[in-house]
Amino acid sequence: MRPNREDDARTFITRVCEQRPEATFAITIDGAAVGSIGFSLGHNVKRVSAELGYWVAQPHWERGIATESVRAVTAFAIAEHGLTRVFALPFAGNTASCRVLEKAGFTLEARLRRSAKKESQVTDQFLYAYVTAD
Ligand SMILES: CC(C)(COP(=O)(O)OP(=O)(O)OC[C@H]1O[C@@H](n2cnc3c(N)ncnc32)[C@H](O)[C@@H]1OP(=O)(O)O)[C@@H](O)C(=O)NCCC(=O)NCCS
Repeated sequence: MRPNREDDARTFITRVCEQRPEATFAITIDGAAVGSIGFSLGHNVKRVSAELGYWVAQPHWERGIATESVRAVTAFAIAEHGLTRVFALPFAGNTASCRVLEKAGFTLEARLRRSAKKESQVTDQFLYAYVTAD
């Protein structure tokens, strides 16, 4: 979730601070939050998988911050939860996010056609995954 209003932001921060296990983190520069990254653990037969989501505030784009964060949180999620797979579902037009995932070692597995609706526009998503060795 990317909160857009101050009250949304406060609700978001309260919720993620209470989250157990911890799975949502601030991305910070010199102690100031500039974004967020988190994962959602699968359940039951999907308990070895997690979905990753992230955003960085626009003034800080294109400095490698998202790539470094994706690398770090993917490694953390795998180590902490014994995962075999971390995946992300960027909108097909989100070239920057796709590039981030590729730089962080994720592989494009599929194009999910007409899988999401953004601002009343139906859109495709890409399925990217980072998978551990057998
Ligand atoms: C996507 C996002 C997280 C990227 O954050 P960032 O810190 O700028 O990412 P990085 O600097 O690590 O890498 C960005 C890469 O995308 C590239 N890029 C940026 N815009 C691009 C575009 N329009 N077309 C092609 N490549 C683009 C950059 O050049 C860079 O690649 P490079 O290192 O090979 O030059 C940020 O733009 C964002 O928060 N967007 C809104 C939320 C969002 O889309 N979240 C992801 C949901 S899946």
